[in-house]
Amino acid sequence: MLNWQSEWEQAKAMTQARTARPFVTATFAMSRDGCLSRTQGEPTVISANAALRMTHALRAVHDVVLVGVGTVLSDDPLLTTRLVPGPSPRRVVLDSALRTPLTARVVTTAGEAPLIVGCTQADPARAEALRAAGAQVVLLEPSCEGVSLAALFEHLQGLGVSSVMVEGGATVLKRFFAERAVDFVCITESPLLLANPLAVRLDDGLSRTLARWSASAVEHMGPDLIRAGPYAGEASGAAR
Ligand SMILES: NC(=O)c1ccc[n+]([C@@H]2O[C@H](COP(=O)([O-])OP(=O)(O)OC[C@H]3O[C@@H](n4cnc5c(N)ncnc54)[C@H](OP(=O)(O)O)[C@@H]3O)[C@@H](O)[C@H]2O)c1
Repeated sequence: MLNWQSEWEQAKAMTQARTARPFVTATFAMSRDGCLSRTQGEPTVISANAALRMTHALRAVHDVVLVGVGTVLSDDPLLTTRLVPGPSPRRVVLDSALRTPLTARVVTTAGEAPLIVGCTQADPARAEALRAAGAQVVLLEPSCEGVSLAALFEHLQGLGVSSVMVEGGATVLKRFFAERAVDFVCITESPLLLANPLAVRLDDGLSRTLARWSASAVEHMGPDLIRAGPYAGEASGAAR
């Protein structure tokens, strides 16, 4: 068991005692100069193997792993737990206009059908095409910035989901933090330097906030530093 896992379990139990929505972990890998990828559209390996396995282990304890459609279009991730024993969580994509390609690996790979969460005004023909390709599609009310997180949480709760791991990308992470919908954070900090004018960076304000956050578990894994722990989810917000 990794150091942070007991903290994660405690934080989950405490959070669930005070809020009805699923427990949310935000996790991402970042270069030393604050980048999430070298450029949009170029999948960038930031974590070394030990940290990658840790991320898969973290996936395995969640009911859902969630990304935005930007990450699907850019990286075409599998979002499974293939590097560790344990179940793969349900894969969820926030995708207002149903831009997820029918050939995306998250759609075409075996396992439980991914859930593509669009907005009510999305093209019904596109929804049907995604369903025919093997995905489940649900259309929820929009907010000013994509799918309403309150509607998302309500839907996931209806499915019996009690924990969600938000893996990015930059836009989705910013939104979950902005809506105070994060309970636990796990950051992989790599010694790599990736900065360039096209790099995808964590939002500046969020970077500053997280630099002040005090992780309760700090662990070296190979070349990477893992910082993890409960996030002081201020007690109010639209998505609570
Ligand atoms: N280093 C890491 O750990 C890591 C992890 C993941 C991704 N990444 C990188 O991040 C980049 C992708 O980030 P990104 O910001 O372009 O895309 P993203 O955050 O994956 O997806 C953003 C898109 O999700 C949709 N969305 C729907 N509802 C939303 C909501 N409530 N809040 C936020 N977004 C919502 C929006 O598109 P619609 O308006 O069309 O719905 C939005 O543009 C890639 O370069 C990828 O490599 C890095």
